[in-house]
Order: sequence, then structure tokens, then C-alpha cells
Amino acid sequence: MDESLSSSCHKMTDETFILLRDFIYEQSGIYFGDNKKGQLEARLGLRLRANNLADYDKYYYLLKYDPNAARELRSLFDSVTTNETSFFRSPPQIQAFQDKVMPEVISRKEKQSEKQIRLWSAGCSTGEEPYTMGIVLRQVLNDKGTSWDVKIVASDISEKALRSAKAAVYSDYSLRSVPPEIKREFFLSEGNAYRIIEEVRNLVDLQYLNLNDTRRIQIMKGFDVIFCRNVLIYFDDEAKKRFVSQLYDCLNHGGYLFIGHSESLHNISRAFKLVHFPGALGYKKE
Ligand SMILES: C[S@@+](CC[C@H](N)C(=O)[O-])C[C@H]1O[C@@H](n2cnc3c(N)ncnc32)[C@H](O)[C@@H]1O
Repeated sequence: MDESLSSSCHKMTDETFILLRDFIYEQSGIYFGDNKKGQLEARLGLRLRANNLADYDKYYYLLKYDPNAARELRSLFDSVTTNETSFFRSPPQIQAFQDKVMPEVISRKEKQSEKQIRLWSAGCSTGEEPYTMGIVLRQVLNDKGTSWDVKIVASDISEKALRSAKAAVYSDYSLRSVPPEIKREFFLSEGNAYRIIEEVRNLVDLQYLNLNDTRRIQIMKGFDVIFCRNVLIYFDDEAKKRFVSQLYDCLNHGGYLFIGHSESLHNISRAFKLVHFPGALGYKKE
């Protein structure tokens, strides 16, 4: 939507901006810096209209004290999150995952006679990332596929994004980096759109999960690879440190974390071993 249109209808005072910004941060770790007031005003303008409210103060009180606050919180998260994503995003990372990381994980597990693989797309948005992981895994396992127990957990704080992920139907634009032979093998054409095939769809377990929910994250264990790409960018350093340290605990020894290609764990965590792949970095739990 045109964010400037909604902001022209309602004005947010600086005091209310601080209240709402702190509330969103406490709930989700997502931080709106002082320069993001206009953006927050525009995004929440929609919620004001949906709730028939005259100003942002009333919206804040709804979130804090209304009996329906929990439901509104989910809609708030839909409004304040940025869900930009695509299949095979940051190709060098996907290549590293395919050529180096998964073969390493698989050969270690074969030696241990353990045929279980657990992957996690934390902040999966509309599903392109976990389905990409599924496609790659199908290719890496090839004809050995059926003998492995594979699950890809895909979680997000946006219910709206998860609904799209569940539908698993995508436009040409989402598939812009998908090689033609993969498009033919793993997608079914539906008019102008593409549906991911059931075999890959069934590998992915979609879950509503707020990364700020420490207790929920604590029970996420035993992952071989975690993709948490282009999510930390919305958090401040304190929240990044907390999440990354929790993600470390969620990984198996020998497991890898991938963050966005423009993100870094510099000053955030020293726990991982930095591994250089062609054009990409991985963070390994040794
Ligand atoms: C820009 S998208 C990235 C999608 C995908 N990982 C990629 O790199 O293409 C960021 C996603 O992180 C999710 N997100 C933001 N804060 C979150 C939180 N506290 N818990 C879970 N997901 C969150 C957003 O809803 C959004 O879908």
C-alpha cells in the first residue's frame, strides 16, 4: 500500500511513538529507530482504520488493556513485519548449503547410523525459503531420499505470511531465481502461478512462532541447519545477542547457522566458527 496515504489521515505524537515502539520491541524484538516513526505511523494507520479508532493513543490502550488485545497483537505483527523473500534467495548461500553443508551433515550422520535430518527456517515469511531448502534436500538425497527421516520446521510471527506459505502457490516473480529445470521438476503450473509439489510441501512443518518467546525457543532442539536470514536486521543488538545465543543452543554439534548475506555476527556472538564458502559465510557450531 502507499504508506504516505495512510499517514496523512492520522498523526502519531512523539510520546505515543515511544510507547508503541517500546511495546512492539518488548513483544517481538523488532525495533523501530527514531528515523522510522513515519513508517510505523503508516503501517499502524491500517490497524486504526480496522479497529475504527480515532488516534494512535487509543490503539496503544487497545493493545495494552483490551480483552481482544491478544488477537490484535497478531494483526499488529502482520502490519509491522517486512515479508520480502524469494526462492533461491542469495544463491551462493544456497549453493554452499547444497554442495558443502548438507553433504557434510549427511556423511556425519551416516557414520553415526542416524538417518534423521532437522532443518529450520526461522522467519520463513511466505515459504519460499523453507521450500527452497526442501528442493535442495530432495536433490542432495536423490534416490536415498525415502530412507531418511526429514523435517523442515518453518516458523514466523506473521500469520498472514504463514497462510501464504500454507497455500504454497507463487507468482513468476517469486520464482525469478529458480533454474528452469528445477521449475519443471518441483512446481506445477496453475494459470499464471506455480504450486510447489506435494513431495516438497510435505517436508515442511509450518508453525507460528515468535523468536522473542524464549520458552518456546528453548524447546526447539536438535537442528542440523538453521536459516535465520534477513530477520535479525529488524532487531537491536541486545535482541540479536539473545536470539543468536538461543539459536546456538538449538543446533546440533556440527550444525550450521546461515544469516542474511548482508548481516554479520560481529559483536553479536563469538560462539560459532566462521566458515568461508564461495561467495557466502556459514556459522558452525563445533
Ligand atoms: C524479510 S523476511 C525474510 C524471509 C526469509 N528468511 C528470507 O531471507 O528470504 C523477515 C521475516 O522475519 C519475520 N520476523 C520478524 N520478527 C520476527 C520474530 N520476532 N519472530 C519470528 N519471525 C519474525 C517476519 O515476519 C518476516 O516474515
